[in-house]
Amino acid sequence: MDSSKTQRGIYFDEKVYNLINLLKENSDGMSGESIAQKIGVTRAYVSKMIKNLKNLGYKFEIRKKYKLLESPDIPLPWEVGKNVIFFESVDSTQLKCQELLKKGKIENGQWVLAITQSQGRGRLGRRWESPPGNFYGSVLLKIDIPLKEITKIPLLGGLSVFRTLKLYSLKYDIKLKWPNDVWVITDKPKKISGCIAELYGELDRTDFVILGVGVNVKNSPLQDISISLTDISEQSVSLIDFTQKLLKTFEYIWMEFNMGEGWGKIRAEIENNMWRGRVKVSKGHSEFVGTAVGIGKDGSLIVQREDASYEEVYYGDVFIWT
Ligand code: BTN
Repeated sequence: MDSSKTQRGIYFDEKVYNLINLLKENSDGMSGESIAQKIGVTRAYVSKMIKNLKNLGYKFEIRKKYKLLESPDIPLPWEVGKNVIFFESVDSTQLKCQELLKKGKIENGQWVLAITQSQGRGRLGRRWESPPGNFYGSVLLKIDIPLKEITKIPLLGGLSVFRTLKLYSLKYDIKLKWPNDVWVITDKPKKISGCIAELYGELDRTDFVILGVGVNVKNSPLQDISISLTDISEQSVSLIDFTQKLLKTFEYIWMEFNMGEGWGKIRAEIENNMWRGRVKVSKGHSEFVGTAVGIGKDGSLIVQREDASYEEVYYGDVFIWT
């Protein structure tokens, strides 16, 4: 793919989608002539598309026919979904999403996905290590809820990752940890994913939330404290398959959330699958140890302190305290 296109982002392209699918269905290969006829383009255009796909990592045998030998395991829009804008490398998918929003080049519900990030953003100003092989995505969400309830949004991201991971056969139990992470419960619990929600709008009302999701699919960059799906899955894992599943799951949860009883059901599911053990809550300079017991109606974490009083946590850091 020419570099200007990868910098601008790769959007869904119906013709490329049709070409790839034709070649996947016809594993013996097809002539340029018949591909051109089937998808309604010239033979020259077919050869141009093939050249671009080769630059993205697709492998073809090209003799009398075009034969697809191998597809790269990267989340291109025609592999994972029409609502995807793909980049090879970005500073952060959060920043890229914000930039596209300002330029009017992204719509509500679209995802920005990248293979790597040079300045991946974690919560509370932390860095998110972003080697290739993992999921890095940010989705633009048009929203009209009070600021206090924004805490719900990263919870939806965390639940989407949780449900997606549960579709795999896993060697360990997993738990949601407020506000957004999924943790793997090994002897020493380890983090597999995180979410971040950033707002764009006016005071006390927000127009857009950019929800960023990072999942260690094939690599765990911080060996001691993180773990990947590949480490805990009974089967081999493909990033394309994971991305397809996660995007569908999020779309479904977003629909549930926006329906009448949606939040109530989602909150109950989070409560049933969250880490309910001891936690250390750190809010700026103050910290305390207690037991995570539930999720508040507005998305806060309810913690029982050691003196048996309850505290609702709306911000800060919560660590699993074993
Ligand atoms: C956390 O601190 O747990 C949140 C991590 C969120 C990381 C994701 S990766 C995709 C998106 N782009 C970013 O720069 N950050 C989020």
